[in-house]
Amino acid sequence: NLTTSTNPLRHVESMKHPQSVAGGNISKLNAVTLGEAPASEENALVLPNKEFSSKAHVQSPEQYLEMYKRSIEDPAGFWSDIASEFYWKQKWSDKVCDENFDVRKGRIKIEWFKGGITNICYNCLDRNIEAGLGDKVAILWEGNEPGMDGTLTYNQLLHQVCQVANYLKDIGVKKGDAVIIYLPMLMELPITMLACARIGAVHSVVFAGFSAESLAQRIIDCKPKVVITCNAVKRGPKTINLKDIVDTAIYQSAQNGVSIDVCLTYDNPVAMKREDTKWQEGRDIWWQDVIPRYPTTCPVEWVDAEDPLFLLYTSGSTGKPKGVLHTTGGYMVYTATTFKYAFDYKPSDVYWCTADCGWITGHSYVTYGPMLNGATVLVFEGVPNYPDPGRSWDIVDKYKVTIFYTAPTLVRSLMRDGDENVTRYSRKSLRVLGSVGEPINPSAWRWFFNVVGDSTCPISDTWWQTETGGFMITPLPGAWPQKPGSATLPFFGVQPIIVNEKGVELEGECSGYLCIKKSWPGAFRTLYGDHERYETTYFKPFPGYYFSGDGCRRDKDGYHWLTGRVDDVINVSGHRIGTAEVESALVSHPQCAEAAVVGIEHEVKGQGIYAFVTLVDGVPYSEELRKSLILAVRNQIGAFAAPYKIHWAPGLPKTRSGKIMRRILRKIASRQLDELGDTSTLADPSVVKQLIELADC
Ligand code: WTA
Repeated sequence: NLTTSTNPLRHVESMKHPQSVAGGNISKLNAVTLGEAPASEENALVLPNKEFSSKAHVQSPEQYLEMYKRSIEDPAGFWSDIASEFYWKQKWSDKVCDENFDVRKGRIKIEWFKGGITNICYNCLDRNIEAGLGDKVAILWEGNEPGMDGTLTYNQLLHQVCQVANYLKDIGVKKGDAVIIYLPMLMELPITMLACARIGAVHSVVFAGFSAESLAQRIIDCKPKVVITCNAVKRGPKTINLKDIVDTAIYQSAQNGVSIDVCLTYDNPVAMKREDTKWQEGRDIWWQDVIPRYPTTCPVEWVDAEDPLFLLYTSGSTGKPKGVLHTTGGYMVYTATTFKYAFDYKPSDVYWCTADCGWITGHSYVTYGPMLNGATVLVFEGVPNYPDPGRSWDIVDKYKVTIFYTAPTLVRSLMRDGDENVTRYSRKSLRVLGSVGEPINPSAWRWFFNVVGDSTCPISDTWWQTETGGFMITPLPGAWPQKPGSATLPFFGVQPIIVNEKGVELEGECSGYLCIKKSWPGAFRTLYGDHERYETTYFKPFPGYYFSGDGCRRDKDGYHWLTGRVDDVINVSGHRIGTAEVESALVSHPQCAEAAVVGIEHEVKGQGIYAFVTLVDGVPYSEELRKSLILAVRNQIGAFAAPYKIHWAPGLPKTRSGKIMRRILRKIASRQLDELGDTSTLADPSVVKQLIELADC
């Protein structure tokens, strides 16, 4: 029998007799609840369709429980059975998992399948080709403009990956070297990732919406051998000159002592002519001039399961972005398995994830997870509302997409555009929907379910993070009833726990800080070059556990309701942005003396960035200054991090020791003025009144 703490479905029996129980108290946490309060939704069960369940990988709560139980009681056995389905040049040592998850016992260490020798590119491509999938379509590519498309079979993909791998080797990229990839959603993006993996190089993809400053910061941190980009891209009606951004970043990096010898540039004639591209002879190389000349086969660099696969920078609550490091073996096994179960993947599926490969979702669930399963993956270069708000469904119908995985922000924006943009398309092919990036509010969930999925497709609301590598809390379609807005129950091997401020694990129905007990194969192993920060950020807040940074409520049925970040990270349209980063961009403006940034509820984006700004003495407020402050953020981080509101602040509410009281700023920003709480501890309580008066300036 499962003990109470390891049985995630322990309350499920009580679902038959739903009673109304008051929700927990989350007021102490800086939690965000979107739209409707989930407490009112906990009895809303959406039952799985019998026919779907009968064909699903996991068909019932009992089957899930049995598998879950084994994954917790015998993680080594559970995960090595799955790992054995992959190709290993040499099997791992007897110790499947070696971990220290408790800072009090020393250095945090997570190792899975150590001693096992493998290669993830080989497992994505060669292994599937040997199993007969060579002629199966690996990538369906849809360009920004309707009508522009292309495909690659697994054979063709392997050839292209090998050409890039051979080129990289030729310019001296070796196992363990970093490669920065700054590409839009062209097929060349996953191709380059796989090519790096093939030769054991560590890729670091930078989302091609980040500014030159952000790119430079990442180049300086990981010192890549080469930067790979393209001259320009069209995103919707706009043309973005990526090469200019890269040139600036490389220049800034050189000023900081990191020089880049090679900038491999894909020529994207749809967006820019070759001759219009600024060029530095000797450093810049056209992709098309070199890559096709290389052989289409390339031997694999066999690596240890614990050798690094990639670095991906993500925002934290303080300081510079952190280089999240993932290794090879555990990540491979974990992304493949989560993909298979959470989407109930079948070989006949056509899978589309709208995320960009510049984010973790594009790593785990555009590239590695699906390709390890030999799936057909749609890669879309454009934006969902160009040329019109029906584009997504046009694409779904064109390719007969069966699994559609997106972010709540997209769902909410399409919902606002009106049902007819959806219903004029057939969408008959769809069978599973997915959501990621932020809590999906119940009304958006219902619209997604009823309108997009015609009330027939289960929704996998997958909770996870850059750090976790893969899904942590997610429905398994067909296995158990869903509740609109809940990410439901943990994936195999994952033990989510909810603790209070003191780190005490709460039982049963509760709310608090979401932590994880014990490691899982896909967990990140360190922050690049800063293991101490890794321990401080994630393992010291609640010793013995991994702290996610999210708030969570568990209802009487054991279902999880994510309530948003409890730290100073803002989630705008599913993109993580650190308040500290935005503040540092604002104060870099010569006329800005101080800035404090908070996230507030936004109808479509989930959260919006709201900035309180104090100007240098004597500088008057002006519309022009407002624009140039926003521009400072766009330039330093990227357009997606631009504050939507600048609130002039002659002074900021601070404690006598000088700490900014963000709690009060959040209330002012969301105009919840009757909930300001105690302001008497402020060094100067009159600033609050001033701020309220200036709210609509
Ligand atoms: C949030 C994205 C609620 C959460 C995969 C987390 C979610 C952060 C969900 C990680 C979800 C992601 N429900 N919140 N289904 N998925 N989040 O690293 O706050 O870009 O901590 O990874 O997004 O963002 P990241």
